[in-house]
Amino acid sequence: MTNLDADAQKYLTTVKSATQRMSELIKSLLTFSQVGQGKVLSHVNLKKLLEEVTSDLGHLIKNTKTVIEIGKMPSLNIYEAEMRQLFQNLITNAIKFQKKNAQPHIKISSKKLKGKTKFVVEDNGIGIDEKYFNKIFDIFARLHGNSDYEGSGIGLANCKKIIELHKGEIWIESIIGKGSCFCFTIPDL
Ligand SMILES: Nc1ncnc2c1ncn2[C@@H]1O[C@H](COP(=O)(O)OP(=O)(O)O)[C@@H](O)[C@H]1O
Ligand SMILES: [Mg+2]
Repeated sequence: MTNLDADAQKYLTTVKSATQRMSELIKSLLTFSQVGQGKVLSHVNLKKLLEEVTSDLGHLIKNTKTVIEIGKMPSLNIYEAEMRQLFQNLITNAIKFQKKNAQPHIKISSKKLKGKTKFVVEDNGIGIDEKYFNKIFDIFARLHGNSDYEGSGIGLANCKKIIELHKGEIWIESIIGKGSCFCFTIPDL
């Protein structure tokens, strides 16, 4: 690029980052459109699955000094690949939507209820205003610009699709400035 003038180099840099973002977007959309396509329900140890997910996110967790506490987890009949994606999405969000200079602390817990299991992924991040509690699960819905927090707004839409595939429910409880709890249920399948 050395024989291009400064303006041309600047344009190319902009095009390159826009292309990278577009590529990420296409990849996420493809993943979203493929939810449930494999459709293999299998008996999965969720403790083990979460250990694998946190190990896959090892670099991010280490670089952000995130503390993750994982409570007692059951073994359930689930769509494993999809549930892996769901936890990956929720944990990544919990780390990303964090107050400046704060140490992310995430607690993942489960509780057996009648006919279903309830899971909670809790963070100490920026929180969400109640008026957006439903909106954030829509595809492309984002509450912040890319300069504050990067993303394409597909993660939570994907999580919703995954929980609906399991015939469960997903919702958020949150206090702005304090943190959020992403809750979901999975019926006994
Ligand atoms: N743990 C969280 N704490 C605060 N806000 C969140 C959290 N997770 C998601 N959000 C809000 O919901 C929006 C949608 O999330 P998501 O679909 O994962 O999109 P993305 O991560 O690409 O922005 C985010 O842009 C953010 O505004
Ligand atoms: Mg996300």
